[in-house]
Amino acid sequence: MLKGKKIVLGITGSIAAYKSCLIIRELVKRGAEVQVVITPAGKEFITPITLSALTQKPVISDFFSQRDGTWHSHVALGLWADAMLIAPCTASTLGKMANGIADNMLITTYLSMKAPVFIAPAMDLDMYAHPTTQQNMERLKGFGNHIIEPQSGFLASGLEGKGRMEDPEKIVAALDMFFEKKDLLGKHIMITAGPTYEKIDPVRFIGNYSSGKMGFALAEECACRGAEVTLIAGPVNVQCTMNNVQRIDVESCQQMHDAAIENFPQMDAAILCAAVADFRPAEVAGQKIKRVGQTMDIHLVPNPDIAAELGRMKRADQVMVGFALETNDEQQNAQHKLEKKNLDFIVLNSLRNEGTCFKSDENQVSIISRDAKHDYEKKPKADVARDIIDELAARL
Ligand code: PMT
Repeated sequence: MLKGKKIVLGITGSIAAYKSCLIIRELVKRGAEVQVVITPAGKEFITPITLSALTQKPVISDFFSQRDGTWHSHVALGLWADAMLIAPCTASTLGKMANGIADNMLITTYLSMKAPVFIAPAMDLDMYAHPTTQQNMERLKGFGNHIIEPQSGFLASGLEGKGRMEDPEKIVAALDMFFEKKDLLGKHIMITAGPTYEKIDPVRFIGNYSSGKMGFALAEECACRGAEVTLIAGPVNVQCTMNNVQRIDVESCQQMHDAAIENFPQMDAAILCAAVADFRPAEVAGQKIKRVGQTMDIHLVPNPDIAAELGRMKRADQVMVGFALETNDEQQNAQHKLEKKNLDFIVLNSLRNEGTCFKSDENQVSIISRDAKHDYEKKPKADVARDIIDELAARL
């Protein structure tokens, strides 16, 4: 979403200034146009020649570029930009920004900026932890600026790692996310993901190969587009770091069912992506079952059909999306599930397509509704999620 965006990149006098090259490279790769404004101290750490070679634009540092009266207009830059990013931003620049001390081109540009401003602080821990710096950051947040900091900085030992500039890719990703479509703002979406485990005894279960990747990709896509997401996840090893995703961990179908039924009335939409076990052992042995005899029978009883139950609860203002994982008669089976579970549309994926479905990073799906069917090519699950959420957003 950074394609065509105009970014003013402010660079200040920090040892992390060399990382601004990586920021520029990533911004340019994503299609942004970058104009560097550097402080006099910033030039001590990185040369303008390197920066202008990367941005293909002269670097702005002084009010006057030559002694002929030609001057750089900070006001024009403030109008030109779609966003300003200051990375690295020293404690000194933070202080000047918070207090309007306009003694260099970067601060005058900041004060004239009409676009959103993002700040990636970079300093040592003592400076970072000082109440002055903390107060300045709070003030800048209060003025509507966005502070980008490493999330994992707080270790058990205290503030360790704080003050370090966030990784260049993550800084650019934060900007990218800001420009993402926000068409799901204010919407509440519930997603089930991953497998369910149905216990046989304390050490064994009936499960399946679902990794949760598809469901988590859907959660991230919804969250990026502004939705509040409730993600009900079976046992998986994937993570979701977005603030607006509330994760509920479950193990069995019954637990997933209970969480889904409780949360669904508050939702605008539900996406049932989990691979749920349709049956569970009638009894769970209290102790590890011993190997006796040549055969063993496990008596299974049906699990609740979560999607079908939600389909019966569904109000006219709610949208429900299901998945169909098939190995044969794909379209016919998917259409049957669409009706039986009262879904608005169903996402069909087939195990006949190699390198898709379970565990893989890619999927190949068809989106089937009552009046249309759209076949998509094989692509990364993040892109599949975008196609599915585009279809959902159109119905909300
Ligand atoms: O997790 P990954 O490794 O990324 O793999 C992704 C996936 C292959 C698991 C995913 O793309 C997928 O297909 N999920 C649905 C798998 C499945 O169980 O499909 P189904 O055809 O058996 O179920 C039909 C629908 O009913 C599904 O929406 C399912 O979540 C739902 N269901 C099924 C049984 C049940 N007891 N309760 C349910 O809600």
